[in-house]
Amino acid sequence: MNGIHVGGVLPVVAEPDEFVGLFGVAEMAGVSRTAVANWRNRDRRFPAPIADPRSSPVFQAARIRRYLKQRKKHMVHVISTINLKGGVGKTTTTVALAEFLSAEFSKRVLVIDLDPQTNLTTVLIGEERWKSLNDEGQTLATLFKDALRPEDEAAHFDLRKTLQRRVSPVSEVWQVDLLPSSLDLIDVQDRLASMPSGRFFSNNPTDLLRKAVKSILDDYDYVLVDCPPNLGIVTLNGLRISDGYIIPTIPDVLSTYGIPQIQQRVKAFAHSLGEEIAEVGIVVTKYRKAPTVHMNTIRRLENDPELPAVLSSYIPEANQIAASAEFVGTGTLRQKYGYQGQYDTFRSMTKEFIELVEEIA
Ligand SMILES: Nc1ncnc2c1ncn2[C@@H]1O[C@H](COP(=O)(O)OP(=O)(O)OP(=O)(O)O)[C@@H](O)[C@H]1O
Ligand SMILES: [Mg+2]
Repeated sequence: MNGIHVGGVLPVVAEPDEFVGLFGVAEMAGVSRTAVANWRNRDRRFPAPIADPRSSPVFQAARIRRYLKQRKKHMVHVISTINLKGGVGKTTTTVALAEFLSAEFSKRVLVIDLDPQTNLTTVLIGEERWKSLNDEGQTLATLFKDALRPEDEAAHFDLRKTLQRRVSPVSEVWQVDLLPSSLDLIDVQDRLASMPSGRFFSNNPTDLLRKAVKSILDDYDYVLVDCPPNLGIVTLNGLRISDGYIIPTIPDVLSTYGIPQIQQRVKAFAHSLGEEIAEVGIVVTKYRKAPTVHMNTIRRLENDPELPAVLSSYIPEANQIAASAEFVGTGTLRQKYGYQGQYDTFRSMTKEFIELVEEIA
């Protein structure tokens, strides 16, 4: 039994710290026991237990230490923001997550704007800079247009020129890069959808983004993909590179109605790829205390075991959050989002997001 006593008491031959149980691993890693259980289930590198007395596995501490070091080294997390309902705060949530991940948690972030409305792009770089990029064809629309050209024509998409570095008008946010969107994506989306399937025999239409960005993903800790309110081919390109997704929603009946449908469709797509795209959680947006419908909806979401977890920081409806969509320079995130608790809510939402995402890795 290698020095392990089944009853859990270590005999004198073993140093007290040589073996650890799940609780010990969680303590060493500074995460919850659920997170450790998830790593065990999903990460093939997780060390095998040296003993498994009545489902309380025991591990060699040295191997766990090595594993944690390896985990820490680097891992990019790609997360999409999805809801089939428009105007529920998808873009606002994506921007805030990117900015807080960078400024408050020192993460390197890439945001990918897949929505033809280009809201995320203009929030982060302003209308003028977007227009000149669009005129030069330096947006993601060019990537998709390339796929619609005859195969012997040269590709026009230039990743280096399209990637906008150090975006965001907030000066303390300095590690957010952007792949901008274009209104032309609407047209591209329609044409991709109506292409005869044989045309893409060697060029899978849901795999275009992955092929284009795979060389840079590892430069980041987090990649956030803002999706349009549909599950068309462009959105599937975002899901194709995603480890998981979040669903921002206003906590009312109509906004939350489509959540099971999103879960089902994403699951089916992931299944078709033979991969898993994890349900990271639901983010409550535009929350108002007064109407009971908001609290009732949140309770319903939280108590439904079929739905993803609801993040416990609800983003309040606030004028300053609406105003944050304007491209105006500020020094800090407190100034941008306001001093009435919004800053703290976004910060704690981001912290919770990181914990949930690291659990699925
Ligand atoms: N917490 C909030 N308080 C007040 N206004 C908000 C809040 N969140 C978002 N808004 C505003 O609501 C509108 C819709 O938000 P946003 O663009 O983030 O939603 P979306 O889900 O990305 O929309 P679309 O489906 O059009 O992409 C915007 O004008 C935004 O500024
Ligand atoms: Mg949006």
